Amino acid sequence: MQARNNDKLQKEIDALQRPLVGRRTMSWLAFVLVLLACLVLPVLASVWPSVFHPVEEKAVKLRKTPAAAPVLNHAYVRASPTALGLDAQWSPGTLSSSHQPFGLDCKSCHSEPFKQVQDKDCLACHRGIGNHVADKIASMPALHETRCATCHRDHQGTDGLVSQNRRYIGAGCASCHGDLESKMPGTQVANVKDFAKAHPQFRVQVAASETTFVRLRQGSQPIGQADTLKFPHDKHLVAGGIAGPNGKTKLECATCHRPTESGTGFQRVTMQRDCQSCHTLAFEPALSQRQVPHGSPAEVLSTLREFYGYVNSSKVAIDTPPASGPVFTVRPGMPASAPASFVQGPGDARARAAAAATELFEKTSCVVCHDVSRVPGPGKAGTPGADLPQWKIAPVAQPHAWMPKASFDHAAHRQAPCGDCHMAAKSGKSSDVLMPTIKECRDCHGGTEPVVGKVKSDCAMCHGYHMPDLHTGPKAAKAMKP
Ligand code: HEC
Ligand code: HEC
Ligand code: HEC
Ligand code: HEC
Ligand code: HEC
Ligand code: HEC
Ligand code: HEC
Ligand code: HEC
Ligand code: HEC
Ligand code: HEC
Repeated sequence: MQARNNDKLQKEIDALQRPLVGRRTMSWLAFVLVLLACLVLPVLASVWPSVFHPVEEKAVKLRKTPAAAPVLNHAYVRASPTALGLDAQWSPGTLSSSHQPFGLDCKSCHSEPFKQVQDKDCLACHRGIGNHVADKIASMPALHETRCATCHRDHQGTDGLVSQNRRYIGAGCASCHGDLESKMPGTQVANVKDFAKAHPQFRVQVAASETTFVRLRQGSQPIGQADTLKFPHDKHLVAGGIAGPNGKTKLECATCHRPTESGTGFQRVTMQRDCQSCHTLAFEPALSQRQVPHGSPAEVLSTLREFYGYVNSSKVAIDTPPASGPVFTVRPGMPASAPASFVQGPGDARARAAAAATELFEKTSCVVCHDVSRVPGPGKAGTPGADLPQWKIAPVAQPHAWMPKASFDHAAHRQAPCGDCHMAAKSGKSSDVLMPTIKECRDCHGGTEPVVGKVKSDCAMCHGYHMPDLHTGPKAAKAMKP
């Protein structure tokens, strides 16, 4: 009896100690639960959003509407996350801060489950991102194997992409560029492995004429460019100063080269602001500072024709010469042997205007800086100067980037004197190219390996990958501009 009671008690104890279901069942249950919460629900929520989140359906539609934004399709940014962020638990790490606004919407990048991120997903938003190479060479197989995600590995923290962009060495620019010459026979682009150890001498884009540009490689021989505007730096930068209207004037680089607002580059040098104080466009020795406008020959000739016509008809001197003697109508630097006044000159108003024009175009002014040539008349119809002799000014080359395939910022180099990089003070012709060579950069910039006393410089410090001039959009038109 006692034993039977003990047996019963033991059974009850056993029953109490035994788990409700077997361990095996328990494991299965847990497994199914995890499967449900972490896989089935996320998958269902993602393929069947309307059931989980009917309100968001509209937003999903909006997201799929391509907008016309050229670079970034803003409609896509208002994406809708999967219900309850159920799939977010699969995220391997924090997304970059620019991607966080839609960070819960995994599908905006992972459009097809269990597949690698595809370029078309990135391009849905980044539709205007420039190509790396021109379309005609984009058939190179290695370029197709390189996906956006090869270089931009997201889920690396909030500033992950930004720091990758700047210090990009990841999949290795050198994986292609280390041996591009054999991967792409006939390319003009030399092999590059590292800025300090294996980077070719720079090419410089220069004007071949006023409208065409070529890229020439620097080497032991100095390279030259079309000389569409005459300007000897050396004559203007002499140590003791140069003759100006108020005596010797000391010119600095900054007198003519004024930084743009961002400080990256410089504003265009202009005749009116930077030269005209010395190189006046005065034309009549008997009269004071009256000048022709700095414009087309038609404007200049019309001004002269009207001026002498008026002087002739009114028969009065328009104003009195300054007490200091004859005005500066000669070219700067020449002895002041001004021609006699044209106001009292021989002939009628037309002959006087013609004589003044000849002096101005061919001797004292225009010809100093421009290529000037006589052209057969008559001049521009309907202008007062049409009956005068005619001249042509050769077009001046437009400002352009010198190293368009790299980015250079003057603001980051304020500590270096201009002369460290530009041998302007020794240049006697505007056909000289004053751009620095790789040697000047290597004085301060090292390569990918850190070296004491040098700035560690990965490729993306100086280069973008997405070439703005290979944009197919409106940016392409501005390719040559700085
Ligand atoms: C801005 C785009 C973007 C968004 C949004 C995004 N991912 Fe990713 N994800 C990436 C990229 C890029 C990779 C690298 C993929 C590759 O190499 O193909 C990646 C990789 C992954 C991987 C694979 C891990 C690896 O190292 O290969 C997983 C898992 C993943 N993402 C989950 C998620 C989840 C979950 C979400 C939503 C919370 C999400 N991702 C949202 C861009 C994104
Ligand atoms: C839903 C829209 C969207 C998708 C999809 C998307 N991006 Fe972005 N991305 C943005 C926005 C918005 C920014 C911030 C604005 C900018 O820099 O253009 C950004 C910025 C970036 C930046 C610059 C990072 C920074 O902060 O400077 C990189 C690089 C980038 N995205 C790469 C990718 C890649 C690679 C993919 C595909 C895996 C991708 N993006 C998919 C919207 C998107
Ligand atoms: C998948 C191969 C590949 C990768 C990766 C690659 N490039 Fe290129 N790159 C090319 C090709 C091809 C050209 C065009 C060559 C030509 O015009 O003959 C080119 C051209 C260039 C040029 C212009 C050269 C010139 O003077 O016209 C620069 C600069 C450049 N790449 C820098 C980079 C940088 C920086 C990286 C890394 C962020 C990089 N590339 C990654 C293949 C690649
Ligand atoms: C009196 C005005 C003046 C002064 C002073 C001057 N420059 Fe210039 N600079 C010019 C003009 C004009 C051009 C030609 C611009 C053009 O063609 O549009 C030029 C062009 C340049 C260029 C680009 C042209 C090339 O061929 O590489 C550089 C670089 C340059 N100057 C540097 C300097 C430096 C450095 C100093 C000081 C040591 C300096 N300049 C002083 C007027 C000046
Ligand atoms: C401070 C006065 C001053 C300024 C400003 C100035 N110049 Fe001159 N320039 C001179 C003088 C003086 C000479 C004559 C120098 C000589 O012959 O040694 C001269 C000579 C020249 C010559 C002819 C050189 C020769 O060899 O015949 C050219 C071309 C020229 N300047 C262009 C310009 C241009 C372009 C600018 C504006 C970017 C400019 N100058 C600004 C004073 C100036
Ligand atoms: C001291 C030098 C100097 C003299 C003298 C000079 N110019 Fe110029 N000229 C320039 C400079 C610098 C530019 C380019 C920047 C600008 O437009 O101010 C220019 C530009 C021009 C242009 C525009 C050319 C183009 O292709 O964009 C015309 C036209 C012109 N000048 C006509 C004249 C005429 C006509 C005279 C004589 C009356 C004259 N210039 C005298 C320096 C000079
Ligand atoms: C300190 C700045 C700097 C760094 C770092 C740098 N480059 Fe350059 N690179 C330049 C400049 C400047 C040019 C001339 C740009 C031009 O031709 O418009 C150039 C030219 C090139 C070219 C064209 C070569 C040719 O044949 O003309 C390629 C390709 C290139 N770089 C790739 C790279 C790669 C890959 C890296 C990293 C290993 C790198 N660069 C690092 C400044 C740099
Ligand atoms: C560390 C070297 C470095 C220093 C220092 C430097 N430059 Fe430059 N500069 C460059 C390079 C590189 C370019 C070519 C940029 C481009 O167009 O790609 C350039 C371009 C220029 C141009 C032509 C810009 C144009 O729009 O045509 C002028 C003018 C110029 N520099 C003047 C100056 C002056 C003035 C200083 C001093 C305040 C100076 N630079 C200091 C490297 C330098
Ligand atoms: C006197 C030393 C010196 C010389 C010479 C020099 N650099 Fe630099 N450079 C620097 C320093 C310092 C920085 C700032 C590093 C940083 O911000 O991480 C820098 C930064 C840069 C940057 C990044 C600019 C930015 O926006 O932060 C570029 C691109 C660059 N240099 C290109 C060049 C090129 C191309 C040359 C040759 C023409 C050159 N540098 C010559 C010292 C120099
Ligand atoms: C070989 C490496 C590489 C590949 C492949 C690549 N990128 Fe980039 N990307 C870079 C580098 C380096 C930068 C930073 C320098 C720059 O501004 O170009 C960058 C910058 C960006 C930026 C931010 C700067 C900007 O211009 O707005 C975006 C957005 C971007 N990439 C999107 C993409 C997309 C989308 C793809 C695929 C079509 C892609 N990238 C393929 C290397 C790469």
